[in-house]
Amino acid sequence: KRLILLNGPNLNMLGKREPETYGRKTLKDVVRLVKDTAWEKGYEVEDYQSNHEGDLVDRIQMAEDNAAGILFNPAAYTHTSIALRDAISSINIPVIEVHISNVHQRETFRHHSMLAPVCAGQIVGFGIDGYRLATLGMIEKIENEGR
Ligand code: DQA
Repeated sequence: KRLILLNGPNLNMLGKREPETYGRKTLKDVVRLVKDTAWEKGYEVEDYQSNHEGDLVDRIQMAEDNAAGILFNPAAYTHTSIALRDAISSINIPVIEVHISNVHQRETFRHHSMLAPVCAGQIVGFGIDGYRLATLGMIEKIENEGR
């Protein structure tokens, strides 16, 4: 049983990047949190971070064959990417969109997600803990749908 954790552009900079918005925890801390949370429920996690839209499309396409769901922080591509939206639409496993910050309290260009309409759910504004909540929500969802 496996989940994919996907992080988009600039999330490799977590911890250094705008800490007043994103906190001091690093991507490594995020990966650890998701792996530990999933492990307790009997799931493995494969994680990728990329700054490149096409790489993220590739990972989404590949996930369908080897995972039960994707936890995805698409970062800035959330607000722009038709390619990521089409990739999510093309697979048959659930994707949960995660944002560390409360995007709705920020600039208006962050209020709209191109991806949310094709995702199974969205977690916003809980800081790094949102990844843990998304992991638990994903596993509940998968098990309730009998995958
Ligand atoms: C983000 C919110 C996006 O608007 C922003 O471009 C990011 C991070 C978040 O996790 O809060 O890079 O996805």
